[in-house]
Amino acid sequence: MRHKQYYRVGCMILGSLLYGSAMAAAPSASMLANTCAGCHGTNGSSMGPASPTIAGISKDFFIETMEAYKAGERVSTIMSRIAKGYTEEEIKRMAGFFSQQKFVRQPQEHDAQKAKLGKKLHKKYCEKCHEDGGSSSKDDAGILAGQWDKYLRYSMEDFTSGDREMQKKMKKKVESLQKDHGDKGMDALIHYYTSQK
Ligand code: HEC
Ligand code: HEC
Repeated sequence: MRHKQYYRVGCMILGSLLYGSAMAAAPSASMLANTCAGCHGTNGSSMGPASPTIAGISKDFFIETMEAYKAGERVSTIMSRIAKGYTEEEIKRMAGFFSQQKFVRQPQEHDAQKAKLGKKLHKKYCEKCHEDGGSSSKDDAGILAGQWDKYLRYSMEDFTSGDREMQKKMKKKVESLQKDHGDKGMDALIHYYTSQK
């Protein structure tokens, strides 16, 4: 009888110790996000062209992207290795954090004439899934407006070469853009996105 009671009390103490240490070991979303800041900037707004800004992207897009990197399903230079270091739960927590941050745009060089054409092309070929001139996150398709020029160009190259899978309907639009306007069309679009302040 006494033994049983000791055992129970022991379990309770051990249980609360384990619970306590599990709580202490679980880093907060902003702590997790700090480890991304070296490349993606404070709170996800990148200060330089080497890494994209990830602030303000939707939770679903963030989670799908990280899981795709983890599984090696989305082409990357570095993110596949980084994503493998995080559990599903941690990715969800970071998704909540980054989706709530403001996408802070940096001024970028662009050609105003090309940007003007790009704006028209965007309406025709891209706006349907990249709403508000590519600044909305609600399509779960990333944010294009104000994104770094280099990242946009690499992304489009990965898509058109087939290294990164493109949604069927986007593929159709990108192909008709190419057919109607050649390489100048995509170039104009990128000038449009980088012109947005
Ligand atoms: C060493 C630099 C570096 C670090 C650290 C880093 N990233 Fe990245 N991230 C990149 C680069 C570069 C890309 C573009 C894909 C590639 O080439 O790997 C990218 C792409 C991404 C994308 C895709 C963005 C989009 O618009 O599709 C997400 C999401 C992302 N990173 C999240 C994170 C998170 C979360 C962390 C921290 C846990 C992190 N990254 C840490 C460099 C980094
Ligand atoms: C039918 C919907 C649809 C259309 C139309 C569309 N896209 Fe997309 N786009 C998507 C989706 C969905 C994603 C996210 C794909 C993924 O990462 O798996 C995406 C991703 C992207 C990305 C990568 C974003 C990032 O942060 O990694 C770029 C760049 C892009 N689209 C450019 C364009 C351009 C330019 C056009 C017009 C020529 C266009 N898209 C038309 C649905 C669309």
